[in-house]
Amino acid sequence: MGKKFHFVCRSCGHEINGFEEWFAHGQKCPKCGDNKIYTVYHTEKEKIKKLINSPEEPKNLWHYFDFLPLNDRENIVSEGEGVSPIERWEIFEDFARGKYGLNIQVYVNRNDLSPATHTFKDKGASLAASVLKEHGIKEYVVASTGNTATAFAYYLAKAGISLTVFMPEDALDENAAHIGALGQKVCIVRGDYGKAKRVAKEYAQRYGILISGGNLDPLRLEAKKTQAFEMMRQLGRTPDVYIQAISGGTSPFAMEKAFHDFGDILGKMPRMLLCQGNKCAPQAEAWEKAKAAGFPEGWENDYPVYENPKAIVPTLATGNPVLYPFMARLVKNSGGEIFSVREEIAVDIARLVAYERTMRIGPASAVGLLGFFEALHRGYIKDGEMVYINMGEGYERAYSFLRDVAYTLQYILGADECPRHDRNIYKDKVWDVFNNFEKYSTSSDNK
Ligand SMILES: Cc1ncc(COP(=O)(O)O)c(C=O)c1O
Ligand SMILES: [Zn+2]
Repeated sequence: MGKKFHFVCRSCGHEINGFEEWFAHGQKCPKCGDNKIYTVYHTEKEKIKKLINSPEEPKNLWHYFDFLPLNDRENIVSEGEGVSPIERWEIFEDFARGKYGLNIQVYVNRNDLSPATHTFKDKGASLAASVLKEHGIKEYVVASTGNTATAFAYYLAKAGISLTVFMPEDALDENAAHIGALGQKVCIVRGDYGKAKRVAKEYAQRYGILISGGNLDPLRLEAKKTQAFEMMRQLGRTPDVYIQAISGGTSPFAMEKAFHDFGDILGKMPRMLLCQGNKCAPQAEAWEKAKAAGFPEGWENDYPVYENPKAIVPTLATGNPVLYPFMARLVKNSGGEIFSVREEIAVDIARLVAYERTMRIGPASAVGLLGFFEALHRGYIKDGEMVYINMGEGYERAYSFLRDVAYTLQYILGADECPRHDRNIYKDKVWDVFNNFEKYSTSSDNK
């Protein structure tokens, strides 16, 4: 067995030595062929307490080196990812108190401040680049709606590794620009994300190149699991409720892994309140159907597949959620919910936080924050709870969205056409949708 960690096949329990063996077998279990593995560390678990309580301010993800699947620190490829501040947002607390009579605490993870590509995908990309470097791999493939591709393009370029990216045709233009500018290859596949994944797989197989293995790939999962450690480090406890916009759901799976491995230290896994944009919400639709039927036998295997979804936020548009059966059980076990939010008001939440918090967010973050308002409206948050929102991306990921969010532009010929400006006049306007949220909730759609 590897010195620091090994893998265990989730299906048959077969033990795999480490990445050498895993890569040599085409990222499949040598015994049963399944592609889902579990990473087991040989380091004493108690050591995580020391890392969480360390008096030193961590510089990056690699503060948690002992619980990441890399053997040699020499191979670390990093750029300050994984330690974004978790901020308390009293403005959301005041809203919950005023409109719903709830006294709650609200914390938001500022992944938009991740230095490399301004998303929480930087963590997985840092780990992937480091592990690939450790194993002398020079070429890699990834299919992505955009943010994973952008993060991997950056970190792999830093490690001198060539990346070929396959993105669906509705992916935002900014992604292709960021990736292409670094000399990494971008292929826009005519079709949706499902098609892009199939083409990527075919390309990787044709040339025998390693490919990023999706939502349960240890390179993504193990890096994202550190979020739970950061909650403990920054907040002193783990929250009661976890809110996030999901596409495939890597982050919730990573949270499950963290709480499975370190439950006695981290406490109970938060209730997972996971949202999807309503233009592509197969997991929310499946959940709603199962819930209405009282979660009958086999409910988790019943989910719709959308071909060519037309989402306003394409970053989140996974039309075929192949891991829904796993996600559904995870959410159910946590006492949580999967629900949709209205994508048409993504711009409105972005305006609100830009006004009240002096920050600009990307569209996938907007969907995540809408999850908070939808959850409040649906009664999914209880009095006294600590709520944590894993907000995924900054405005750098979508300049086109930022242009839609801006609302004060005026073209003029001379100074006499420009009235005096008082920013305060916009306050009521930016709150309007949220003060009248019952009109915008998705809870009464399709009923
Ligand atoms: C900013 C942002 N938020 C949320 C998600 C959904 O992430 P997950 O893979 O955990 O479903 C993505 C995925 O692309 C994303 O880029
Ligand atoms: Zn197996």
